[in-house]
Amino acid sequence: MNFEEEISLLIKSRYPLVLVDTMDEDYVTGQLHGVAQDQSLTFYSWTLSKGLRIGANQNAFYKTNDAVTMLRVVNDLIKDPHRALFVFCDLDRFLGEAVAARLFKDILNSIKNTPTTVVLLGAEAKLPADLAALAARISGGYPDEKQLLAEINRAVSEFKLSGVHLEVDMPPETLRRVVKTLKGLSLQQVRNVLNICLLQDARFDLADLAVIEKFKKEAFDRDGILEYFGAEHENAIAGFENLKRWVQDRRKSFLTECPLPPPKGLLLLGVQGCGKSLAAKVISGELAIPLYRLDLNRLYSKYIGETEENLRRALATVERLAPVCLWVDEIEKIFAASSGEVDGGVSKRVLGTMLTWMQERKDRSFIAATSNDINSLPPELLRKGRFDEIFFADLPDAAAREGIIRIHLEKRALAPALFDVAGLAANCEGFSGAEIEQAVISALYSASGSGEKISTRHVLEQLKLTRPLSVIKSESVGLLRSWAKERNILPV
Ligand SMILES: Nc1ncnc2c1ncn2[C@@H]1O[C@H](COP(=O)(O)OP(=O)(O)OP(=O)(O)O)[C@@H](O)[C@H]1O
Ligand SMILES: [Mg+2]
Repeated sequence: MNFEEEISLLIKSRYPLVLVDTMDEDYVTGQLHGVAQDQSLTFYSWTLSKGLRIGANQNAFYKTNDAVTMLRVVNDLIKDPHRALFVFCDLDRFLGEAVAARLFKDILNSIKNTPTTVVLLGAEAKLPADLAALAARISGGYPDEKQLLAEINRAVSEFKLSGVHLEVDMPPETLRRVVKTLKGLSLQQVRNVLNICLLQDARFDLADLAVIEKFKKEAFDRDGILEYFGAEHENAIAGFENLKRWVQDRRKSFLTECPLPPPKGLLLLGVQGCGKSLAAKVISGELAIPLYRLDLNRLYSKYIGETEENLRRALATVERLAPVCLWVDEIEKIFAASSGEVDGGVSKRVLGTMLTWMQERKDRSFIAATSNDINSLPPELLRKGRFDEIFFADLPDAAAREGIIRIHLEKRALAPALFDVAGLAANCEGFSGAEIEQAVISALYSASGSGEKISTRHVLEQLKLTRPLSVIKSESVGLLRSWAKERNILPV
């Protein structure tokens, strides 16, 4: 149902009061005017600056740019039998005051069960509790996919008219992603962000998707609890064949209207530095949905109760942004950060909030959670059904180590063919991906320090100098690996 159909239904069902959450007053007021005409209702609109006006009339009722006077006038108007639609902007700000609140209640009482309806407009309108009970809430001014496509076409042709050359590279799949990402923004916001996309480089292409994703995050995540990350291609990670296949099989469910329900999420356990965080970026890239990391430092508040409230708000934001990939890095910290003597049960309640959300949410977003500390993971989280699958990222085997070496040489514009990659891989058993990457970087420094061209020898030297974590902390790494083995956790 679109906005016009939704509001028409509420009016026909004789709701006295409807709250419309919108960031686009003019657009929604225009739509409401149309709905009033369709249903033969007299249309009144009020703003503090313009006063109470009837239809498209520019003249206001006498002295009605004052809330109390306006409410008195409306009380008089509705004494005669009426079929009307009243639209008030920001009126909720005046209802904390006794006279205004009384007059407003009088209006609602007299229009109950009549064809007359009052609509309050404003983003996040707040009503006193007794009035809130009478109101239906909907959101408006958010264009649907058809309108979004029309907006894109309009913005592109307008830009071309300005005489500047615009390079458009929008294959259907990218366009579909752009439309999906624009969804949830108000018309004004859509226009603003499209202008930014076109103006900044006179190109309209895949790179603009990231611009829109960031814009949308800024618009919705006012507390800054989510952090936007760019996605990675699956070639950026070596090994992880099982995980890549798992994601490939499910990729269609986010991209298209697929009959299968989209997957809900994964838990990635594993040894430090073995690519869990990198895998989260690859997952979002392959699922073609934007990646947002839950910022745990921002989540935690020293005030009792606020942490849960922060989490609840962050999860509500995720639902508004959906479909997204929500990356909960080191998920055990959500439940552990506030532990200690003065916890006051916060971590228990936070766990409860998180588990309930994971269980009940109906939005199309994907959770990629990671952890390298199974001891502080609550067992409830591991129970079947919380995540679609749990994967274990172990120390890379020889083939994966070769892949990692290649990726990190190429990343620094070095041709792997000039190195003995297999020989190097044989010399770093027990190394994590992060440690191998570090050895490549250090080799670059040592070669350039001695004025030589980097070769296999330089990398080998750095590998020999490294004492990997699997040796330094052999006990804890060993425990983690045998824990995963005993439980038959799927290797990545
Ligand atoms: N399989 C891999 N392929 C390519 N690069 C890898 C791989 N594993 C690790 N790396 C490199 O090591 C870096 C660190 O890995 P990452 O942060 O993903 O590890 P992690 O498992 O999340 O570690 P931690 O448990 O400490 O959070 C990556 O950014 C990447 O450059
Ligand atoms: Mg990590």
